[in-house]
Amino acid sequence: MMTETQRVGETIAYLSTKTSLKPEIGLVLGSGLGYLGEQLEDAAVIPYGEIPHFVKSTAPDHQGRLLIGRLRGKTVLCMQGRFHYYEGYTMKQITYPIRVMAKMGIGSLVLTNACGGLNRQFSPGDLMLITDHINFMGMNPLIGPNDDDFGPRFPDMSKTYTPALADLARKAAADLHIPLREGVYLGYSGPSFETPAEIRLFQSFGASAVGMSTVPEAIIARHAGLKILAISCVTNLAAGILDQPISGEEVIVAAKAAGKKFTALLSEIVDKMEL
Ligand code: HPA
Repeated sequence: MMTETQRVGETIAYLSTKTSLKPEIGLVLGSGLGYLGEQLEDAAVIPYGEIPHFVKSTAPDHQGRLLIGRLRGKTVLCMQGRFHYYEGYTMKQITYPIRVMAKMGIGSLVLTNACGGLNRQFSPGDLMLITDHINFMGMNPLIGPNDDDFGPRFPDMSKTYTPALADLARKAAADLHIPLREGVYLGYSGPSFETPAEIRLFQSFGASAVGMSTVPEAIIARHAGLKILAISCVTNLAAGILDQPISGEEVIVAAKAAGKKFTALLSEIVDKMEL
């Protein structure tokens, strides 16, 4: 049996045949938010299907490819589309790319997603800085023997979302006059959307947003000692807040509509990042 370190080594060896660029920042682009990838210069474009030990991307509107290129003078690795627990993969499989990024020497990770808003003041298209999360997925990607090569058995999660990166995001948003909301993101397995009763529960927990990703990746990134910034695009108000059903199509349409603003903010953040 190969160890995780050996697997990650094979993946990195494969990626290094595609580009000599050494990425410094990782970006995971969520549902409908892949547009930033089009802005990269000198990009190597690598479909997930080609990459050793990656699983296949099956979520709608996830391009399923990894890009390594330059953005605002920095070298970035960009995932256009991610893996979700609801696709039927294990939490280890969906978070594997984060371990690859950590071993490639990436120090800062930017996670993005589409989410449902739990706060009545939110509107579709709003961007929200994630200040903390609640893992309500009923699973943790670190369950099982700890691999000391990646991080400690019991990682501290008290400052998962790096305060200095959150400040930098606030500053970038202010400079671009893009309103940036803030709140706690609750991770839910999906793929069914939540019920109104669940949404009332999550509101009482103090969550401002709900979505089907990000939390497992943040746990693995934190375990590996990466700095983390996470930003959600609110694509809809969560179930029961408005008297209307929620659809996967509506999520993609709303995320795409916010794509330009979202991309401008992310580019400005990358610009301002000190490595
Ligand atoms: N719930 C869960 N995930 C989501 C939602 C939602 O309302 N909108 C976008 N992703």
